[in-house]
Amino acid sequence: MAVTIKDIARLSGVSIATVSKIINGKDSDIGKPTIERVKRIIEEQNYTPNIVARSMVTKKTKTIGLVIPDVRNPFFTDLVRGAEDVANERGYSLLFCNTDDDLKKEIKYINNLIEKQVDGIALAGAAVRDQSLEENIDIKVPIVSLDRNVYFKGVEGKIEVDNFTGAYDAVTHLIKSGHKRIMFLSGQLNIKLSKDRLEGYKRALADNNIEYYENLVVVGKYTSEFGYESMKNTTPDKAVTAIFCGNDLIAIGAMNALKEKNIRIPEDISIVGFDDIYISSLVTPALTTVRQPSYEIGYQAVEMLIDIMESKKEASQKREIKAELKVRESTCKRRSE
Ligand code: RIB
Repeated sequence: MAVTIKDIARLSGVSIATVSKIINGKDSDIGKPTIERVKRIIEEQNYTPNIVARSMVTKKTKTIGLVIPDVRNPFFTDLVRGAEDVANERGYSLLFCNTDDDLKKEIKYINNLIEKQVDGIALAGAAVRDQSLEENIDIKVPIVSLDRNVYFKGVEGKIEVDNFTGAYDAVTHLIKSGHKRIMFLSGQLNIKLSKDRLEGYKRALADNNIEYYENLVVVGKYTSEFGYESMKNTTPDKAVTAIFCGNDLIAIGAMNALKEKNIRIPEDISIVGFDDIYISSLVTPALTTVRQPSYEIGYQAVEMLIDIMESKKEASQKREIKAELKVRESTCKRRSE
């Protein structure tokens, strides 16, 4: 039969209230020898506090909710691992949910997590947003947004990447390699990070006196299917010698379609992605991309959330993380005519 808090009290020679205080870290009025004796007996009896019972007392479940678009995208896989590692280090469990970039599903999951009494939520928002709807939703638990921006009320912290500069550096690298006609395959433009990447693309062209042509920008989703279909259905005109992609999955999909058309990468078309997911260094040719430190983004977002929940940090934190260009074999100097 499972060991109860009553057994621990009896074996320790103290009251149940004393054991409860020690378990919940509210033991400032208890002598060190008693605390050590109770903790030793808990260890020896392999006692695990009943979380539900404890939450009645502390109103804390030591559980955090993490809401992301899709854990199958390696960008989010690493992000979840970073989030889970810091939660574990700080004594919290993590529940995560996949929204498939569906705002209705996102809102449903946020409600479910609050019903399950999570102590806080970290949210990488769906790529399709509704600002007017969200601004009428006040999320009643501590919440930190990461990677993508959201419009809910109550968001107390943000961790975002400098997407503008990441895109600017990627396109500037192509331009310095002699490319002038550069396509941009973008994810959904409903979110700030996509708009920032488009602005970075545009500014790099402008700073090098290269005209911007709207028909060189194709908007889809952050998926390999979009990258593949966009290149399968339309071969870029001969003048296009480079493609900047909104993320690595789009880039890898596009590369596969171009190879099927015997278009050589990078000799005929140079390709740059965004994220630096682990497979990007394994594909052939290895993908030039913009590295987002996804593990650190997840780790720092949940660390910020816990600090806010434990009142160790003021709310309304905003942290911006730099993205770094990683040049590999999928880009090269533009061939002379
Ligand atoms: O790969 C998924 C994309 O959406 C990444 O670029 C990341 O920023 C996420 O928001």
